[in-house]
Parts: sequence; C-alpha cells; structure tokens
Amino acid sequence: MEQFRQILPEELGDNPFSLIGKDWLLLTAGAPEDHNTMTVSWAGMGVLWNKNVCTAYVRPQRHTFGFMEREEYFTLSAYPEEYREALRVCGTKSGREINKAAETGLTPFDAGGATAFEEARLVLLCRKLYAQDLRPECIVDPAVDTHYPQKDYHRMYIGEILRVLVK
Ligand SMILES: Cc1cc2nc3c(=O)[nH]c(=O)nc-3n(C[C@H](O)[C@H](O)[C@H](O)COP(=O)(O)O)c2cc1C
Repeated sequence: MEQFRQILPEELGDNPFSLIGKDWLLLTAGAPEDHNTMTVSWAGMGVLWNKNVCTAYVRPQRHTFGFMEREEYFTLSAYPEEYREALRVCGTKSGREINKAAETGLTPFDAGGATAFEEARLVLLCRKLYAQDLRPECIVDPAVDTHYPQKDYHRMYIGEILRVLVK
C-alpha cells in the first residue's frame, strides 16, 4: 500500500479502452483473508448520478459473483505486462478450485474495504451503488444474445470510484 499514491480520477492517464479491453483488469471483492478475484475485460468508466463510476459485468456462475453480492466495496486493478500470465490464470481458473494469490504470486492488500494486489500499477477502489441483471428482453441487437448461449446474463455492478491509486 505504501508504494501507491492517490490521484484524482481526472488525473488518470490511461486510455480506458486499452486499459479495459487490451490490458485487462482484476475485479476483486472481500478482505485480504477472504477475497476472490477474476480477470475482466468488459467494464466501463464514466460519470453517473454526478459521481465518477466504474461498471463491471459478472456472470452468475463466477465464484467472484458471491463476493460481489456480499461486499459493499470492490476494486478494479491493472498490472504491468509481465503479469499477463497471472491475469490469464485468474481468468481461466476459479477461486473454487485454486487459491489465486498463492498460484500467481500476487500479494493481497486492503485497498480500503476491498482487496487489491501489491503488484498492481493502478487500483480503482469502488463502492457499490447499483446492481442489475442484464435481461434478454432488453436486448435490442439480437447479435448481443450470441454471447449468452447458456442464458447466463451478466449482473451489472455500478460502483462509485472512491480512490485511484497509482505507483
Ligand atoms: C480476458 C478475460 C476477460 C474476462 N472478462 C470477464 C468479464 O468481464 N465478466 C465475467 O463474468 N467473466 C469474465 N472472464 C471470465 C472469468 O475471469 C473466469 O471465468 C474466471 O475463471 C472466474 O473466476 P472465479 O470463478 O474465481 O470468479 C474473463 C476472462 C478473461 C480471460
């Protein structure tokens, strides 16, 4: 935690499209001793209800889903390229089967109500404001439904950005 400094959301230098879609993020909820994390590459950053917010989308079968439901806070965190393999592990294995921190060597710390990892280059600490399931009857372009052959529609979580930590 000491290696991080807090900046304003407006000072963030990252391009959100490459940060989310190309670099990928870890979505993490729970305390360091009882957390789960998973890789996400579908997310959003913006402004809603006069607050700076992040939006994450979690399918119900993810182990992380239960943590997102239970917890008030979550983090989205970004990593240097050398951690790509760690993110691949967190995005293909479940916390039900492995201890992801032990498997990847990532070091959990409390970012202020939710876990992030010391190796991150950027941590966004968020407080849940709103959660809602994406619904098939709301899909406008039928192509969207091809992402849901198992009808496992994501739950959308909108969180207020409380802290932006960078190295
Ligand atoms: C690059 C990448 C991006 C992903 N993005 C998402 C996402 O946005 N939402 C989601 O529900 N799953 C996403 N996943 C899948 C989860 O990370 C994966 O199922 C993970 O193993 C879930 O772990 P858990 O069961 O411990 O929660 C992504 C996987 C990868 C590799």
